[in-house]
This record gives sequence, C-alpha cells and structure tokens, in this order.
Amino acid sequence: MALEAETKAIVAKFDYTDDDVNKAVDEFLRQMAEGLGKDGTSLSQIPTYVTGVPNGTEKGLYMAVDLGGTNFRVCSIQLNGDSTFNLTYTKVAIPKKLMVAKTAEELFAFLAKQIELFLKTNHEEQFVAHIRRRMTVSSPDGFRDENVFRLGFTFSFPVQQIGINKGNLIRWTKGFDIPDAIGKDVCALLQIEIDKLHLPVKVAALVNDTVGTLMARSYTAPGKTGAVLGAIFGTGTNGAYVEKLANLKKPLLGEYDKSTGDMVINTEWGSFDNQLSVLPNTPWDMALDKTSVNPGIQMYEKRVSGMFLGEILRLVLLDLVKNPAVSFFRDDNSNSNDWKSTTTIAQNSGIYTPWGLDTAIMSVAASDNTPELSVLRQELESTLNIYSPAYDDAQAFKAIAGAVAHRAARLAAVAIAAIVLQTGKLTDPALADEPIDVGVDGSLVEHYPYFRDMIYETLRIIKGVGEEGAKRIRIGIAKDGSGVGAALIALVAANMEKNTTP
Ligand code: GLC
Repeated sequence: MALEAETKAIVAKFDYTDDDVNKAVDEFLRQMAEGLGKDGTSLSQIPTYVTGVPNGTEKGLYMAVDLGGTNFRVCSIQLNGDSTFNLTYTKVAIPKKLMVAKTAEELFAFLAKQIELFLKTNHEEQFVAHIRRRMTVSSPDGFRDENVFRLGFTFSFPVQQIGINKGNLIRWTKGFDIPDAIGKDVCALLQIEIDKLHLPVKVAALVNDTVGTLMARSYTAPGKTGAVLGAIFGTGTNGAYVEKLANLKKPLLGEYDKSTGDMVINTEWGSFDNQLSVLPNTPWDMALDKTSVNPGIQMYEKRVSGMFLGEILRLVLLDLVKNPAVSFFRDDNSNSNDWKSTTTIAQNSGIYTPWGLDTAIMSVAASDNTPELSVLRQELESTLNIYSPAYDDAQAFKAIAGAVAHRAARLAAVAIAAIVLQTGKLTDPALADEPIDVGVDGSLVEHYPYFRDMIYETLRIIKGVGEEGAKRIRIGIAKDGSGVGAALIALVAANMEKNTTP
C-alpha cells in the first residue's frame, strides 16, 4: 500500500498540465523570435544557408557521411527523381582513442580513409576514371569535374554555420574531446584529408541531422509545400524548420540564394528555456543536471531525449530503493504465493550506477500488457540484475517510467506546435485542408510505444492548433534522413555552385 501511494505521488510530480503546455508554447515562440534577432540566446536559431526543401523530383548520385555519435557512416545515394532512392552504406565504429585524439588531423584522416575504402569497394569505376583524368588533364578546379562526387557531411555537434559548406565547431559533445578542432571549419578539415588521398570527392554541404531529416521527409512525402519541420527525438533532441528570410533579423555571414525568400533554421531546441521559466523541474531533474557534463544547458533536451530519460527514471528508483517505508525491489512486496518470493537487487545493478539504466527498458515497460507484467519482470532481471522482481514493484516501475515518458512527449508537442504556429501554415487559406508535414527520426520516436500518439493527444489541447489543427499535422518517420537529406543538400549546393560560377 505504501508503495502504491508513493508511486502515485511521484507520478503526480511528472504531470505537465494543459495550462503548463500552453504557457510553454507561448514561451517557445518568444524564444524563437529572440534567437532570430541576435546571437547568444537560449534557442540558437542557426541559419543553415539551405533556402528551400526538395519536391521529390531531384535526381543524381551523391555521397554522404555521418559523424555524430559512436559510428561513422559512409553512403552513396542514387536519387531517382520520383521520391525514391537507393542507398549503399558502410558503418564503422569510431575508435575511442580518436574521439579524444591530440589533433583533429588524426580523426579526419581516419574519416577520409573510410571514404576511400568505400569508394574502392562500391564505386571502383568512378574512382578509376577520376584517377585517369587527374593524370591526363590538369584541372585545378576539381569541382566541375563530372566524376567528382558531391558529398553532404552530417555533423551533429554544435556548429556556427557560415555557409552551406562551412562551419566552425563550437564545442564537442557525446564523448568527443579534441580541443585542437574547436573554432575550426570542420568541412575544411575533412576536405584537406580527402585531398591528401586524391579522392574524387568535394565536401559540398554541412548538415545537421535535423536538417537532413527535413530534407528527406520533403523528398519522400512531397506535399504542396514540402515538410515544415524535421525533428530528432533520439539520444538528443532538436528541430530544423523553414523560416521566412524577412523574420531572420540577425546578420548572415555567408552567401545564399535569396530567390525563395526562405531559409532553413537549425533551432538547437535542446537548449530551449535553459533559464527554466516554463520547463518542469523535479528534484530528479535538478540532480541529473548537476552531475551532467554541461550543467545549466540543454535543459529541454535533458527532459525529453533518450540519453536522459533513463537517468531521470534511475534517480527516482534509487530514492525508492533507499526508502525503507516502501520495500521497493525487496522481498516484502512479493506475492507470498509466488514461489519466487525473494526479490533481491544485486549490488552491481544499473540502478546504483550513474547512467546505468538504458532508456530502452522504458519501451519494454510501456509495451508489456501481459497480466503478470512477465516481459518487464524478465527484463528487470536480465538488464538490471533485479532478481525475481515482484508484480507490485514492476507495476510501480511501469507507472513511473510511463510518467517520465509521458511528460517528455508532452514537451515534444510544445516544440512541434510552436514551430507549426510560427510558420503560419494552419491559418493560410491557400493551404486549407492541406497536411502540415513533420519528418521525425530517432530511437525514442521510433521505438517508444505510443510516443506519437501522446504527442497528438497534447497537440489537440494547444491553443491555435486544437482538434482540427492536430488532424492536419502529419508526423511521419524519415528513415535514413541523415544520408538522403545530406545528399539532397549536396545537390542544392551543387546547383548553387552552378548558379554562382560564371
Ligand atoms: C544535440 C545536438 C544537435 C543534434 C541533436 C540530435 O542536441 O546539439 O545538433 O541535432 O543532438 O542529434
């Protein structure tokens, strides 16, 4: 009984009411406007120099590479011009020692080497043709060589973008630490290493994963206007959307095509409301932030994305385990008729280790609808070393995990709604009844059951969206967004090059 009451009280602390949601949407819109006006704000609103989204008819063979976490992906993408594509890729784990290398050169030389291997394996003809050409024609301007691949570089770290293929690294995250690279143009770092190997590759575009997702969704599910938002709900969370140039008040440093009147903005919404004026803040959120590598920043991300939800849950569970009044994960809650009557939590359980609870178990909890919660109980044993967990304990676990995820989904709806409202598409008479397309990717939205349903349920109660608006918002997965999206931006960049070179 004590456990049930305590669980209820905890679950209530993760409530994020309709009123809270609506206040947060207003604040999100305010912080978006602030970020469009000047640098150094909570929402960075980084101009990407991408001025339009595709319509599905784009064609050609492009390359893309993706550096953003533990793996490096190299791919080539054939865009077929009918909203379909063919993708060939290889994936390699980034050696730990390169993540903390002394020089940027060491990491980028490794990346270039992977590109070379990929080309030799998958595009030998083009590779050889290029080498032959280099030997017979002295063409210092490789860009115009038809045999040169345009490559889109998905680099999902905070970058100050200064052109479609130029951007200086602001700081490393996700376990990387190579101080030598800070402030340097990451495209140039890669191009230098590619050129040392004489590869037929030009780094044509620098791409955040959210921008890639937006492009990929527009290509594969084209509507009257293309997708309005690309969002990642995975290890991290972020969104990129199409903004009117007229609303972008801060000075732009690079060249871009002004003809569309639009520009894709990388919001870096992980840092929405770092000042916590509208975000919820339980004692567990505070504890997590304190022990994180970047206290005080990415405050929205720390309440929404996969890397952090498991840790919030772990901190709650740890308090329960330490509370003698509730006998959580201890014998007393076991059903006395149950032959497995000794629940024990091992000393080495992930519950006791910071970051030791993988968010994936929250998906298992949410999808286990068996009467005995047997799937979840099995998972608690195998991944958290909690032996013979009682039904009551599993039920408490499921309720609390559900509350943490539910709050995350409601917060996700805040960002989506604010951006849809900012674009004005819901009230544009020319678009009446047209779907408003949102492309999403990431482990959370892909694997957490009902995450999208919970987002929709929240969208319906948001002022300016409502039942009707929520029906028009079409949230769809953009698989392989980073590869296809980066290829599409490389194509945009190649066209820009044609338009600007005499
Ligand atoms: C982090 C990064 C951002 C990226 C997001 C999703 O928030 O700062 O650039 O888009 O993770 O991967």
